[in-house]
Amino acid sequence: MNLPQRLVLFSLILGLAPKNYLELGTARGGSALIVQKAIQCLGNPDFQGACIDVSFSRISPEHKTDLERHFRFIEASISVSSIIRAHRAIGDFEIVLIDALHDIDNARFDAMTVFPFVRPGGVILFDDANYFEVRDAIREIVTILPVEDCGYLSRHGGQDAAPLRPENDRWRGEEIIWGGLYMLRKKLGSPSASEAKSGPLPGKFVVPSRKY
Ligand SMILES: C[S@@+](CC[C@H](N)C(=O)[O-])C[C@H]1O[C@@H](n2cnc3c(N)ncnc32)[C@H](O)[C@@H]1O
Repeated sequence: MNLPQRLVLFSLILGLAPKNYLELGTARGGSALIVQKAIQCLGNPDFQGACIDVSFSRISPEHKTDLERHFRFIEASISVSSIIRAHRAIGDFEIVLIDALHDIDNARFDAMTVFPFVRPGGVILFDDANYFEVRDAIREIVTILPVEDCGYLSRHGGQDAAPLRPENDRWRGEEIIWGGLYMLRKKLGSPSASEAKSGPLPGKFVVPSRKY
């Protein structure tokens, strides 16, 4: 994350003082550490975080020990089952950061899969929303899911040193710009997983398997 995004994430956590937070894609722990710092500033010992990533081996031992005070690490691919594990651990999610694979199918899958487990009024953040595949996933999601489109919290972005331009038909010629933090809010009155006290989850929001 670039500096404006980090500042926005820190301020959002400070401002909303969530009881919990889920991160899809943690890598070296940069965003989780920002969330943890904000929680420490709030002095909220009951906060619970969860991170899902295929590997946490890139987090330094000191940072991992620090994060383990508040965060659970679920080393798995993002799926209904790994999200259910996080949900069992920390309850309906108040804030979710989606920052894993940035192609359109995976960005859409991650949002659709986590959505039933988000608390009504809860927040879904997308990192790298400037990137056209994430941008277009968000454009689709707002037409499918009951969310308020809160727009960009940060537009700041940048390009790779030698940016490529896509050659496929859909995005041909578009510039690859990273960065951009985007926010959706689950509408109040939408169901959450823990409200479905018996029976299946709200199936129409669940994507059972990923395209690739
Ligand atoms: C952009 S990095 C996350 C950066 C981190 N949020 C930060 O700001 O410091 C993306 C991470 O997502 C993980 N990832 C990508 N696809 C995934 C998947 N399908 N399931 C779980 N983790 C995934 C990668 O292993 C990588 O660590």
